[in-house]
Amino acid sequence: MSRSNSEAEQQLSLTKRPRRLRRNPTIRSLVSETQLTVDDLIYPMFVTEGENQRVEIVSMPDCYRYSLDLLLKEIAEIYSLGIKAVALFPVVSETKKDDNGTESFNPEGLAQQAVRAIKAQTPGMMVITDVALDPFTTHGHDGVIDDRGVILNDETVAILVKMAVSQAAAGCDIVAPSDMMDGRIGAIRQGLDASGFTDVGILAYSAKYASAYYGPFRDALDSAPKFGDKKTYQMDPANAREALLEVELDIAEGADMVMVKPALAYMDIIHQVKANCNVPVAAYNVSGEYSMIKAAAQLGWIDEKKIMMETLLSIKRAGADLILTYFAKDVALILHHK
Ligand code: PBG
Repeated sequence: MSRSNSEAEQQLSLTKRPRRLRRNPTIRSLVSETQLTVDDLIYPMFVTEGENQRVEIVSMPDCYRYSLDLLLKEIAEIYSLGIKAVALFPVVSETKKDDNGTESFNPEGLAQQAVRAIKAQTPGMMVITDVALDPFTTHGHDGVIDDRGVILNDETVAILVKMAVSQAAAGCDIVAPSDMMDGRIGAIRQGLDASGFTDVGILAYSAKYASAYYGPFRDALDSAPKFGDKKTYQMDPANAREALLEVELDIAEGADMVMVKPALAYMDIIHQVKANCNVPVAAYNVSGEYSMIKAAAQLGWIDEKKIMMETLLSIKRAGADLILTYFAKDVALILHHK
C-alpha cells in the first residue's frame, strides 16, 4: 500500500528515534543494559526439626519448612538448576528457646547441623547463615533484654560472636548478621579471625529497616516479637542518609558485602548504597514482597511469572549485585528452560 502525499508530509523530522533500538527482539537483546541470571540469586530456606517434614508456610505459598532430610533433597535439586547459594533460617521448638537465645550457639543446633549436612552432601553450595537471636529467644527480639524490656547492645553482640563462630566451625561459607546491633560486624570479624576462620566472609544486613514487609517471615519462624517492635535497632523507613552511615561503619568493621532490606520500597537506598561503596551490594526481596505477588497472582489479577521477573530485574537495575529471594527456584526453572 503506497502512502499518500499528505501522510508522507505528516512525517516528523526527527534525528533521534529511540524506537529504532526496540524494533525487534534481536536489537533489544543487543542493547539490554541489565541481565538477571541465576548467579545473582541467593535462596532463603527454612529448616525445621524432625524427619520427613515439608510444611507449606500459609502466608508464603510454595515456601516450605523442611526437615533436614528433605532439605538435602531440595538442595541437590536447586544446585542442579544452578542456584549456588542458600541463606538458612532455622525454626526451633519453643522448648529450645530462652531469654538469651543460648541455643543459637549450640554446636549441635539445627542450623549448625544443617550446615554440616549440606556441605557434606553438596560441597559446592555456598551456605550463608543468619546471625540474630530472634529464632531462639522466648520474647522474639534479636537481642538480650533487661527487666525494662530494653534491648542490650553489647551483651547481645557477645552472644552473636559465639553464634557466628559456631556456624563457621560447622562449615558455613558466609555469616550474615541480621540483628542491627551496633559494632557487631567488627566483633564478629575479630571472633572469627581469633578462631582461625579468616576465610569465612561477612554479608552484613547493613541497612535493615523496621519494616512491616517481614510479617510472613515471622509467621514462618514463629518469631514475631512478643512485646513492642524492633524500632530501637532496625532503621526508620524515613531515613536514607543513615543507611549510608550504617554501610560505612559495617565496611570499616570488616563487612565483605552489604545488604539493603527490604528491596522494593527501598530501591533508592539500593541505588545510593551502590553509588557510595566499593563492595558487592545485596538486596533482600523479603517475605511480604513475595507474598503480595503470590496473593495477587492467586486471585488472577497479575501474571505471576512476568511480575516476578520484572521485579527482580528492577532490583538488579537499581544496583543490587545479589538478590535474596524466595523466587530463586522459580527463576532458575525459567532461565534453565530458556
Ligand atoms: C530476623 C530476620 C528477619 C528477616 C530475616 N532475618 C525478620 C525480622 O527482622 O523480624 C526477614 C526476612 C523476610 O521477611 O523475608 N533477624
